[in-house]
Amino acid sequence: MNLVPVKDLLAEAERGGYAVGAFNCNNMEIVQAIVAAAEAERSPVIIQASQGAIKYAGIDYITALTKLAAEQATVPVALHLDHGTSFNQVMQCIRSGFSSVMIDGSKLTLAENIALTNKVIEAARPLGISVEAELGKIGGTEDDISVDEREAFFTDPEEAEKFVMATGVDSLAVAIGTAHGQYKGVPKLDFERLKKIKARVSLPIVLHGSSGVPDEAIKEAISLGVRKVNIDTNIREAFVLAARQVLNDNPKEIDPRKVLGPAREAATEIIREKIRVFGSNGKA
Ligand code: G3H
Ligand code: 13P
Ligand code: ZN
Repeated sequence: MNLVPVKDLLAEAERGGYAVGAFNCNNMEIVQAIVAAAEAERSPVIIQASQGAIKYAGIDYITALTKLAAEQATVPVALHLDHGTSFNQVMQCIRSGFSSVMIDGSKLTLAENIALTNKVIEAARPLGISVEAELGKIGGTEDDISVDEREAFFTDPEEAEKFVMATGVDSLAVAIGTAHGQYKGVPKLDFERLKKIKARVSLPIVLHGSSGVPDEAIKEAISLGVRKVNIDTNIREAFVLAARQVLNDNPKEIDPRKVLGPAREAATEIIREKIRVFGSNGKA
C-alpha cells in the first residue's frame, strides 16, 4: 500500500472510538518492528520521525525505509514528521514523501503559533498532507521543573478553541500532564482539562509522552477523545534492553544481526501490546 495521511486514520479512529499508535523510528529494525506489529495485530499504524531520528538517519533514508515497509504491508501505514521545527523542514519532508507533518509552534506566542501553523497548512493541504500542531508545552521529563511549574504550561481550553478556529488544523497535541522520556514517578493526567478542551474543539486530540503512562490512564484519555498516541521511549527501552541482554550473555558476539534481531523482536512485542491498549487491533 502507499503511505496514507494520518488524518484519514484518525477519522476512522474517531468513528470507532479507538486511537492509532504513532511509533518513533530511528533505524531499519524499528521500522520493521512497527510494521510487523501492525500486521500481526491487523492495525493501522503511524511511523514517525523525530528531530533526533532525522539527525541520525536522514529524512530520505527514513522515507525510503518506510515507503518500502508500507508497500509490502497489508495494513495502512502513515509517515509523520514529529515535532517539526520549521516551515523549511516540513517542506523537505513533504518533498521526500512524508504523508503527514507536525509543526511544533508551542514555544511561540499564540499569534505566532497560529501564523506558522497556517503557513504549513496552506502548503500541505493542497498536497493531501495532514497537519498536527501543538498548543501548551509538553516538554521532557528531564526538564528541571516542579509539577506546579509544569501545570503552568498545560493547554488552555479557551486558547485551544481559538487556535482551532483560526487554523482549521487536522489534529492537536495537548499538554495535560505527560512529558517525553522516562518518568521518575507515575504521571497524573488532567482529565478534567481534556474534557474541557474536547467540549470546545471537535478535532482528534494527540497525546505525546505516552511511554510510562499507565494503560488505564491511556484508555481513559482515549475515551475522552485522544485519537493518536505517541510512543518512543518504551520502544527504545525494549530495543536496547534486548540488545544489552545478548551482549551480556555473549560478550564475544560480533554479529550485529545476532544483537539487533532480538532487539527488533522485543520492539515488535511492546508495540503489539500498545496497539491492543489503544484498541486499534483488528481495525485494518
Ligand atoms: O519528540 C520526542 C522524541 O521522543 C524525542 O526524540 O530524541 O529522537 O529527538 P529525539
Ligand atoms: P515518549 O518517548 O515519552 O513515548 O514520547 C514520544 C513522543 O511524544 C514523540 O513525539
Ligand atoms: Zn512528542
